[in-house]
Amino acid sequence: MRITVIGAGYAGLVTAAGFAELGNDVACVERDPDRVATLRAGRSPMYEPGLDGLLAAGSGSGRLRFLLPSEAGPAHAAAEAVFIVVGTPRLDDGGVDLSQVWDVVGAMAPDLSPGVTVVVKSTVPVGTTREVGDRLASLRPELRFHMASNPEFLRQGAAVADFLGPDRIVVGVDDDAAAEAMRHAYRPQVDAGVPFMVTAIESAELIKYAANAFLATKLSFINEMADLCEASGAVIDEVAAGLGMDRRIGPAFLKAGPGFGGACLPKDTHALRHTSDSFGTGSRIVGAALSVNEERVHRMLGKVEAAIGAPIAGKKIGVLGITFKAETDDVRESPAVEIVREMVAAGASVRVFDPQGMDRGRSVLPEEVEYAFDAYDAVGGADAAVIATEWQEFAALDLERLAAVLERPVLVDFRNLVDPARAAAAGLSYAAIGRRPV
Ligand code: UGA
Repeated sequence: MRITVIGAGYAGLVTAAGFAELGNDVACVERDPDRVATLRAGRSPMYEPGLDGLLAAGSGSGRLRFLLPSEAGPAHAAAEAVFIVVGTPRLDDGGVDLSQVWDVVGAMAPDLSPGVTVVVKSTVPVGTTREVGDRLASLRPELRFHMASNPEFLRQGAAVADFLGPDRIVVGVDDDAAAEAMRHAYRPQVDAGVPFMVTAIESAELIKYAANAFLATKLSFINEMADLCEASGAVIDEVAAGLGMDRRIGPAFLKAGPGFGGACLPKDTHALRHTSDSFGTGSRIVGAALSVNEERVHRMLGKVEAAIGAPIAGKKIGVLGITFKAETDDVRESPAVEIVREMVAAGASVRVFDPQGMDRGRSVLPEEVEYAFDAYDAVGGADAAVIATEWQEFAALDLERLAAVLERPVLVDFRNLVDPARAAAAGLSYAAIGRRPV
Protein backbone atom coordinates (compact mmCIF):
# COMPACT_ATOMS: atom_id res chain seq x y z
CA MET A 1 0.00 0.00 0.00
CA ARG A 2 1.19 3.55 -0.68
CA ILE A 3 1.32 5.34 2.70
CA THR A 4 2.48 8.67 4.04
CA VAL A 5 3.28 8.94 7.73
CA ILE A 6 3.40 12.50 9.03
CA GLY A 7 5.77 12.89 11.96
CA ALA A 8 9.11 11.17 12.67
CA GLY A 9 9.05 11.26 16.47
CA TYR A 10 9.32 8.08 18.59
CA ALA A 11 5.91 6.80 17.45
CA GLY A 12 5.91 8.13 13.87
CA LEU A 13 9.33 6.81 12.99
CA VAL A 14 8.66 3.32 14.33
CA THR A 15 5.29 3.35 12.54
CA ALA A 16 6.86 4.42 9.23
CA ALA A 17 9.70 1.91 9.42
CA GLY A 18 7.30 -0.79 10.64
CA PHE A 19 4.87 -0.25 7.76
CA ALA A 20 7.78 -0.46 5.28
CA GLU A 21 8.83 -3.73 6.96
CA LEU A 22 5.26 -5.03 6.42
CA GLY A 23 5.75 -4.45 2.69
CA ASN A 24 4.18 -1.04 2.20
CA ASP A 25 5.66 1.86 0.23
CA VAL A 26 6.15 4.56 2.88
CA ALA A 27 7.03 8.24 2.73
CA CYS A 28 7.65 9.70 6.19
CA VAL A 29 7.14 13.46 6.37
CA GLU A 30 9.00 15.42 9.06
CA ARG A 31 9.22 19.20 9.54
CA ASP A 32 12.60 19.22 11.36
CA PRO A 33 15.28 19.48 8.62
CA ASP A 34 18.06 18.22 10.93
CA ARG A 35 16.05 15.11 11.72
CA VAL A 36 15.36 14.49 8.03
CA ALA A 37 19.08 14.91 7.24
CA THR A 38 20.02 12.45 10.01
CA LEU A 39 17.50 9.90 8.73
CA ARG A 40 18.60 10.30 5.12
CA ALA A 41 22.17 9.70 6.25
CA GLY A 42 20.96 6.34 7.60
CA ARG A 43 21.13 7.24 11.28
CA SER A 44 18.39 7.07 13.90
CA PRO A 45 17.78 10.36 15.77
CA MET A 46 16.92 8.48 18.98
CA TYR A 47 17.94 5.37 20.88
CA GLU A 48 15.33 2.67 20.31
CA PRO A 49 16.38 -1.00 20.24
CA GLY A 50 15.92 -2.57 16.80
CA LEU A 51 15.10 0.69 15.04
CA ASP A 52 18.47 1.04 13.27
CA GLY A 53 17.97 -2.34 11.63
CA LEU A 54 14.43 -1.52 10.56
CA LEU A 55 15.51 1.83 9.09
CA ALA A 56 18.37 0.17 7.18
CA ALA A 57 16.02 -2.51 5.84
CA GLY A 58 13.50 0.14 4.76
CA SER A 59 16.00 2.29 2.91
CA GLY A 60 17.70 -0.82 1.45
CA SER A 61 14.43 -2.09 -0.01
CA GLY A 62 13.53 1.40 -1.26
CA ARG A 63 10.22 1.17 0.61
CA LEU A 64 11.02 3.90 3.16
CA ARG A 65 11.98 7.50 2.40
CA PHE A 66 12.00 10.77 4.32
CA LEU A 67 10.57 14.06 3.07
CA LEU A 68 10.23 17.62 4.29
CA PRO A 69 6.64 18.97 4.18
CA SER A 70 7.60 21.17 1.19
CA GLU A 71 8.52 18.00 -0.76
CA ALA A 72 5.55 15.88 0.31
CA GLY A 73 2.88 16.94 -2.21
CA PRO A 74 3.39 14.12 -4.74
CA ALA A 75 3.63 11.50 -1.97
CA HIS A 76 0.35 12.67 -0.41
CA ALA A 77 -1.28 12.73 -3.85
CA ALA A 78 -0.22 9.13 -4.46
CA ALA A 79 -1.08 7.91 -0.96
CA GLU A 80 -3.93 5.47 -0.34
CA ALA A 81 -3.62 6.17 3.38
CA VAL A 82 -2.16 9.11 5.31
CA PHE A 83 -1.23 8.51 8.97
CA ILE A 84 -1.03 11.55 11.24
CA VAL A 85 1.50 10.78 14.01
CA VAL A 86 2.47 14.23 15.29
CA GLY A 87 2.89 15.30 18.91
CA THR A 88 -0.10 16.21 21.07
CA PRO A 89 1.56 17.81 24.13
CA ARG A 90 -0.06 18.54 27.45
CA LEU A 91 -1.51 22.00 28.14
CA ASP A 92 -1.26 23.59 31.58
CA ASP A 93 -4.88 22.71 32.39
CA GLY A 94 -4.30 19.01 31.56
CA GLY A 95 -5.94 19.37 28.14
CA VAL A 96 -4.20 18.55 24.86
CA ASP A 97 -2.48 20.93 22.44
CA LEU A 98 -3.77 19.85 19.02
CA SER A 99 -2.05 22.62 17.04
CA GLN A 100 0.32 20.23 15.23
CA VAL A 101 -2.65 18.10 14.13
CA TRP A 102 -4.47 21.12 12.70
CA ASP A 103 -1.28 22.33 11.01
CA VAL A 104 -0.77 19.06 9.14
CA VAL A 105 -4.44 18.82 8.17
CA GLY A 106 -4.17 22.26 6.56
CA ALA A 107 -0.84 21.47 4.91
CA MET A 108 -1.80 18.14 3.33
CA ALA A 109 -5.41 18.95 2.38
CA PRO A 110 -4.68 20.43 -1.06
CA ASP A 111 -2.63 17.36 -2.11
CA LEU A 112 -4.93 14.46 -1.18
CA SER A 113 -6.48 12.30 -3.91
CA PRO A 114 -10.03 10.86 -4.00
CA GLY A 115 -10.55 7.65 -2.02
CA VAL A 116 -7.74 8.32 0.46
CA THR A 117 -8.11 7.16 4.08
CA VAL A 118 -6.92 9.72 6.61
CA VAL A 119 -5.82 8.00 9.80
CA VAL A 120 -5.29 9.71 13.15
CA LYS A 121 -2.63 7.77 15.07
CA SER A 122 -1.61 10.65 17.34
CA THR A 123 -3.17 10.28 20.78
CA VAL A 124 -6.12 12.68 20.63
CA PRO A 125 -9.18 13.31 22.84
CA VAL A 126 -12.40 11.60 21.89
CA GLY A 127 -14.09 13.58 19.10
CA THR A 128 -10.88 14.86 17.48
CA THR A 129 -10.75 12.38 14.57
CA ARG A 130 -14.25 13.39 13.52
CA GLU A 131 -13.19 17.04 13.74
CA VAL A 132 -10.19 16.30 11.51
CA GLY A 133 -12.69 14.92 8.98
CA ASP A 134 -14.89 18.00 9.30
CA ARG A 135 -11.97 20.37 8.75
CA LEU A 136 -10.79 18.38 5.74
CA ALA A 137 -14.29 18.41 4.29
CA SER A 138 -14.46 22.18 4.64
CA LEU A 139 -11.03 22.62 3.00
CA ARG A 140 -11.79 20.15 0.17
CA PRO A 141 -15.61 19.98 -0.21
CA GLU A 142 -15.34 17.95 -3.43
CA LEU A 143 -12.95 15.29 -2.04
CA ARG A 144 -14.25 11.77 -1.32
CA PHE A 145 -12.20 10.44 1.62
CA HIS A 146 -12.48 8.09 4.61
CA MET A 147 -11.49 8.63 8.24
CA ALA A 148 -9.99 6.22 10.75
CA SER A 149 -8.66 6.34 14.29
CA ASN A 150 -5.84 3.86 14.80
CA PRO A 151 -4.20 4.42 18.21
CA GLU A 152 -0.68 3.19 18.86
CA PHE A 153 0.24 1.06 21.89
CA LEU A 154 4.03 1.14 21.42
CA ARG A 155 6.22 1.12 24.50
CA GLN A 156 9.45 3.06 24.15
CA GLY A 157 12.35 0.67 24.48
CA ALA A 158 10.23 -2.13 22.98
CA ALA A 159 8.48 -0.16 20.24
CA VAL A 160 9.82 -2.14 17.27
CA ALA A 161 8.81 -5.45 18.84
CA ASP A 162 5.42 -3.96 19.77
CA PHE A 163 4.81 -2.74 16.21
CA LEU A 164 5.78 -6.05 14.64
CA GLY A 165 3.99 -8.21 17.22
CA PRO A 166 1.08 -6.22 18.66
CA ASP A 167 -1.46 -7.55 21.18
CA ARG A 168 -4.19 -6.05 18.99
CA ILE A 169 -4.78 -3.56 16.19
CA VAL A 170 -7.62 -1.15 16.99
CA VAL A 171 -9.31 0.64 14.13
CA GLY A 172 -12.17 3.09 14.61
CA VAL A 173 -14.09 3.77 11.40
CA ASP A 174 -17.41 4.97 9.99
CA ASP A 175 -17.42 2.86 6.84
CA ASP A 176 -16.22 -0.47 5.45
CA ALA A 177 -13.83 1.15 2.98
CA ALA A 178 -11.77 2.66 5.81
CA ALA A 179 -11.66 -0.69 7.64
CA GLU A 180 -10.58 -2.40 4.41
CA ALA A 181 -7.82 0.17 3.84
CA MET A 182 -6.51 -0.46 7.35
CA ARG A 183 -6.62 -4.25 6.83
CA HIS A 184 -4.55 -3.66 3.69
CA ALA A 185 -1.91 -1.60 5.55
CA TYR A 186 -1.56 -4.28 8.25
CA ARG A 187 -2.11 -7.26 5.88
CA PRO A 188 0.73 -9.58 7.06
CA GLN A 189 -0.33 -9.15 10.68
CA VAL A 190 -4.02 -9.61 9.95
CA ASP A 191 -3.17 -12.77 7.99
CA ALA A 192 -1.02 -13.99 10.88
CA GLY A 193 -4.01 -13.76 13.22
CA VAL A 194 -3.25 -10.59 15.21
CA PRO A 195 -6.63 -9.51 16.65
CA PHE A 196 -7.94 -6.76 14.35
CA MET A 197 -10.66 -4.87 16.15
CA VAL A 198 -13.03 -2.61 14.24
CA THR A 199 -14.87 -0.13 16.45
CA ALA A 200 -16.66 3.20 16.39
CA ILE A 201 -14.22 6.09 15.90
CA GLU A 202 -14.90 7.42 19.40
CA SER A 203 -14.30 4.00 20.96
CA ALA A 204 -10.88 3.68 19.32
CA GLU A 205 -9.89 7.13 20.60
CA LEU A 206 -11.02 6.26 24.10
CA ILE A 207 -9.44 2.78 24.15
CA LYS A 208 -6.04 4.46 23.91
CA TYR A 209 -6.63 6.80 26.86
CA ALA A 210 -8.36 4.15 28.93
CA ALA A 211 -5.42 1.75 28.39
CA ASN A 212 -2.80 4.28 29.52
CA ALA A 213 -4.91 5.53 32.44
CA PHE A 214 -5.59 1.95 33.55
CA LEU A 215 -1.84 1.19 33.45
CA ALA A 216 -1.18 4.39 35.43
CA THR A 217 -3.79 3.33 37.98
CA LYS A 218 -2.20 -0.11 38.30
CA LEU A 219 1.15 1.57 39.00
CA SER A 220 -0.16 4.02 41.59
CA PHE A 221 -1.98 1.13 43.26
CA ILE A 222 1.15 -1.03 43.49
CA ASN A 223 3.21 1.97 44.64
CA GLU A 224 0.74 2.56 47.49
CA MET A 225 0.99 -1.13 48.37
CA ALA A 226 4.77 -0.69 48.44
CA ASP A 227 4.43 2.06 51.03
CA LEU A 228 2.22 -0.23 53.11
CA CYS A 229 4.80 -3.02 52.78
CA GLU A 230 7.55 -0.74 54.10
CA ALA A 231 5.41 0.17 57.09
CA SER A 232 4.22 -3.36 57.84
CA GLY A 233 7.17 -5.64 57.08
CA ALA A 234 5.67 -7.19 53.92
CA VAL A 235 7.82 -7.34 50.76
CA ILE A 236 6.34 -5.71 47.66
CA ASP A 237 7.93 -8.00 45.08
CA GLU A 238 6.37 -11.00 46.87
CA VAL A 239 3.01 -9.26 47.14
CA ALA A 240 3.09 -8.30 43.42
CA ALA A 241 4.03 -11.85 42.40
CA GLY A 242 1.16 -13.24 44.45
CA LEU A 243 -1.28 -10.73 42.97
CA GLY A 244 -0.06 -11.32 39.42
CA MET A 245 -0.72 -15.06 39.58
CA ASP A 246 -4.43 -14.30 39.69
CA ARG A 247 -5.28 -14.44 35.99
CA ARG A 248 -7.88 -11.74 36.43
CA ILE A 249 -5.11 -9.36 37.55
CA GLY A 250 -2.05 -10.54 35.58
CA PRO A 251 1.63 -10.04 36.40
CA ALA A 252 2.49 -7.13 34.07
CA PHE A 253 2.86 -3.54 35.23
CA LEU A 254 3.10 -4.40 38.91
CA LYS A 255 6.69 -3.32 39.45
CA ALA A 256 6.74 -0.74 42.24
CA GLY A 257 9.11 2.16 41.73
CA PRO A 258 9.64 5.91 41.90
CA GLY A 259 6.39 6.60 40.03
CA PHE A 260 5.44 6.56 36.37
CA GLY A 261 6.85 9.03 33.88
CA GLY A 262 7.55 9.44 30.19
CA ALA A 263 5.84 11.40 27.46
CA CYS A 264 2.63 9.35 27.53
CA LEU A 265 1.29 7.93 30.79
CA PRO A 266 1.23 11.20 32.78
CA LYS A 267 0.03 13.27 29.82
CA ASP A 268 -2.68 10.86 28.73
CA THR A 269 -3.94 10.31 32.27
CA HIS A 270 -4.23 14.07 32.75
CA ALA A 271 -6.01 14.33 29.41
CA LEU A 272 -8.50 11.60 30.29
CA ARG A 273 -9.31 13.40 33.53
CA HIS A 274 -9.74 16.63 31.55
CA THR A 275 -12.05 14.91 29.04
CA SER A 276 -14.12 13.21 31.78
CA ASP A 277 -14.49 16.53 33.57
CA SER A 278 -15.53 18.30 30.38
CA PHE A 279 -18.23 15.66 29.77
CA GLY A 280 -19.22 16.00 33.45
CA THR A 281 -18.82 12.28 34.17
CA GLY A 282 -16.15 12.60 36.90
CA SER A 283 -12.65 11.15 37.15
CA ARG A 284 -12.02 10.20 40.77
CA ILE A 285 -9.97 7.07 40.07
CA VAL A 286 -7.66 8.58 37.44
CA GLY A 287 -7.39 11.71 39.60
CA ALA A 288 -6.20 9.57 42.53
CA ALA A 289 -3.70 7.73 40.30
CA LEU A 290 -2.24 11.10 39.32
CA SER A 291 -2.04 12.56 42.80
CA VAL A 292 -0.40 9.41 44.24
CA ASN A 293 2.18 9.71 41.46
CA GLU A 294 2.77 13.42 41.93
CA GLU A 295 3.48 12.99 45.66
CA ARG A 296 5.89 10.19 44.97
CA VAL A 297 8.95 12.25 44.02
CA HIS A 298 8.93 13.97 47.38
CA ARG A 299 8.53 10.64 49.10
CA MET A 300 11.61 9.34 47.27
CA LEU A 301 13.65 12.26 48.57
CA GLY A 302 12.53 11.35 52.10
CA LYS A 303 13.71 7.80 51.47
CA VAL A 304 17.21 9.03 50.60
CA GLU A 305 17.32 11.23 53.70
CA ALA A 306 16.19 8.33 55.88
CA ALA A 307 18.91 6.13 54.38
CA ILE A 308 21.61 8.76 55.04
CA GLY A 309 20.12 9.52 58.43
CA ALA A 310 20.28 13.28 57.85
CA PRO A 311 18.78 16.05 55.69
CA ILE A 312 20.09 16.03 52.13
CA ALA A 313 21.34 19.66 52.20
CA GLY A 314 25.11 19.73 51.76
CA LYS A 315 25.29 16.02 50.91
CA LYS A 316 26.84 14.51 47.77
CA ILE A 317 24.56 12.10 45.92
CA GLY A 318 25.44 9.89 42.94
CA VAL A 319 22.35 9.19 40.81
CA LEU A 320 22.35 6.21 38.45
CA GLY A 321 19.85 6.60 35.64
CA ILE A 322 18.04 9.70 34.45
CA THR A 323 15.82 8.35 31.65
CA PHE A 324 12.19 7.64 32.54
CA LYS A 325 12.80 3.92 32.14
CA ALA A 326 15.51 1.64 30.75
CA GLU A 327 16.19 1.05 27.03
CA THR A 328 15.36 4.60 25.97
CA ASP A 329 17.21 7.92 25.85
CA ASP A 330 14.00 9.82 26.65
CA VAL A 331 13.98 11.97 29.79
CA ARG A 332 10.54 13.56 29.37
CA GLU A 333 8.63 13.59 32.70
CA SER A 334 11.25 11.24 34.08
CA PRO A 335 10.86 10.58 37.83
CA ALA A 336 14.68 10.46 38.00
CA VAL A 337 14.92 14.00 36.61
CA GLU A 338 12.29 15.26 39.05
CA ILE A 339 14.12 13.63 41.96
CA VAL A 340 17.45 15.20 40.91
CA ARG A 341 15.75 18.61 40.64
CA GLU A 342 14.34 18.24 44.18
CA MET A 343 17.73 17.13 45.52
CA VAL A 344 19.47 20.15 44.00
CA ALA A 345 16.72 22.49 45.23
CA ALA A 346 17.20 21.03 48.73
CA GLY A 347 20.94 21.86 48.62
CA ALA A 348 22.53 18.54 47.62
CA SER A 349 25.33 18.23 45.05
CA VAL A 350 24.38 15.64 42.47
CA ARG A 351 26.51 13.71 40.00
CA VAL A 352 24.64 11.57 37.46
CA PHE A 353 25.32 8.76 35.03
CA ASP A 354 23.00 7.21 32.44
CA PRO A 355 23.98 4.79 29.64
CA GLN A 356 21.87 6.58 26.98
CA GLY A 357 20.26 9.66 28.51
CA MET A 358 23.21 12.00 29.20
CA ASP A 359 22.72 14.27 26.16
CA ARG A 360 19.00 14.74 26.65
CA GLY A 361 19.55 14.95 30.42
CA ARG A 362 21.81 17.99 30.04
CA SER A 363 18.96 19.95 28.48
CA VAL A 364 16.55 19.37 31.38
CA LEU A 365 18.65 19.02 34.56
CA PRO A 366 19.69 21.99 36.73
CA GLU A 367 23.02 23.49 35.72
CA GLU A 368 24.65 22.55 39.06
CA VAL A 369 24.44 18.85 38.18
CA GLU A 370 27.69 17.08 37.27
CA TYR A 371 28.01 14.31 34.68
CA ALA A 372 30.05 11.16 35.23
CA PHE A 373 31.59 8.75 32.71
CA ASP A 374 30.33 5.62 34.44
CA ALA A 375 28.37 4.46 37.49
CA TYR A 376 31.40 4.25 39.82
CA ASP A 377 32.53 7.72 38.77
CA ALA A 378 29.04 9.05 39.56
CA VAL A 379 29.04 7.74 43.14
CA GLY A 380 32.74 8.23 43.97
CA GLY A 381 33.06 10.17 47.26
CA ALA A 382 29.25 10.44 47.62
CA ASP A 383 27.13 10.12 50.78
CA ALA A 384 24.72 7.84 48.92
CA ALA A 385 24.26 6.07 45.60
CA VAL A 386 20.72 6.15 44.19
CA ILE A 387 19.49 3.83 41.42
CA ALA A 388 16.70 5.70 39.65
CA THR A 389 16.35 3.84 36.31
CA GLU A 390 16.28 0.06 35.86
CA TRP A 391 19.18 -0.25 33.37
CA GLN A 392 20.43 -3.82 33.54
CA GLU A 393 24.02 -2.63 33.90
CA PHE A 394 23.06 -1.24 37.32
CA ALA A 395 21.75 -4.68 38.34
CA ALA A 396 25.21 -6.05 37.52
CA LEU A 397 27.21 -3.47 39.50
CA ASP A 398 30.22 -4.71 41.47
CA LEU A 399 28.81 -3.88 44.91
CA GLU A 400 32.14 -4.26 46.76
CA ARG A 401 33.64 -1.72 44.39
CA LEU A 402 30.62 0.55 44.83
CA ALA A 403 30.96 0.36 48.64
CA ALA A 404 34.69 1.12 48.35
CA VAL A 405 34.31 4.28 46.24
CA LEU A 406 31.40 5.74 48.24
CA GLU A 407 32.25 8.10 51.10
CA ARG A 408 29.41 6.45 53.06
CA PRO A 409 28.28 2.95 52.01
CA VAL A 410 24.62 3.79 51.37
CA LEU A 411 22.69 2.43 48.38
CA VAL A 412 19.08 3.51 47.71
CA ASP A 413 17.45 1.41 45.00
CA PHE A 414 14.23 2.89 43.57
CA ARG A 415 13.91 0.01 41.08
CA ASN A 416 14.54 -3.01 43.33
CA LEU A 417 17.31 -4.10 40.98
CA VAL A 418 19.82 -5.28 43.56
CA ASP A 419 19.55 -8.39 45.72
CA PRO A 420 19.38 -7.09 49.33
CA ALA A 421 21.50 -9.99 50.63
CA ARG A 422 24.24 -9.18 48.11
CA ALA A 423 24.13 -5.50 49.13
CA ALA A 424 24.41 -6.40 52.80
CA ALA A 425 27.28 -8.83 52.10
CA ALA A 426 29.14 -5.99 50.34
CA GLY A 427 28.85 -3.90 53.49
CA LEU A 428 26.24 -1.53 52.06
CA SER A 429 23.36 -0.09 53.97
CA TYR A 430 20.58 -0.80 51.47
CA ALA A 431 17.12 0.77 51.10
CA ALA A 432 14.71 -0.26 48.34
CA ILE A 433 11.04 0.16 47.47
CA GLY A 434 8.37 -1.74 49.38
CA ARG A 435 10.61 -3.57 51.82
CA ARG A 436 12.41 -2.69 55.03
CA PRO A 437 16.01 -1.45 54.67
CA VAL A 438 18.96 -3.77 55.46
C1 UGA B 1 3.17 3.77 27.46
C2 UGA B 1 2.27 2.54 27.26
O1 UGA B 1 2.79 1.45 28.03
C3 UGA B 1 2.21 2.17 25.78
O2 UGA B 1 1.30 1.08 25.59
C4 UGA B 1 1.70 3.38 25.00
O3 UGA B 1 1.65 3.12 23.61
C5 UGA B 1 2.65 4.54 25.23
O4 UGA B 1 2.70 4.84 26.63
C6 UGA B 1 2.10 5.70 24.46
O5 UGA B 1 1.03 6.19 24.80
O6 UGA B 1 2.70 6.07 23.43
P1 UGA B 1 5.82 4.16 27.56
O7 UGA B 1 5.53 5.61 27.80
O8 UGA B 1 6.87 3.80 26.58
O9 UGA B 1 4.49 3.39 27.08
O10 UGA B 1 6.25 3.57 28.98
P2 UGA B 1 5.76 2.39 29.93
O11 UGA B 1 6.51 1.16 29.66
O12 UGA B 1 4.29 2.32 29.95
O13 UGA B 1 6.27 2.96 31.33
C7 UGA B 1 5.71 4.17 31.86
C8 UGA B 1 6.27 4.44 33.23
O14 UGA B 1 5.83 3.47 34.15
C9 UGA B 1 7.78 4.43 33.32
O15 UGA B 1 8.20 5.50 34.12
C10 UGA B 1 8.10 3.09 33.95
O16 UGA B 1 9.30 3.07 34.65
C11 UGA B 1 6.92 2.92 34.88
N1 UGA B 1 6.61 1.51 35.19
C12 UGA B 1 6.17 0.67 34.22
C13 UGA B 1 6.77 1.07 36.48
O17 UGA B 1 7.17 1.84 37.40
N2 UGA B 1 6.47 -0.23 36.79
C14 UGA B 1 6.02 -1.09 35.83
O18 UGA B 1 5.72 -2.27 36.21
C15 UGA B 1 5.87 -0.63 34.53
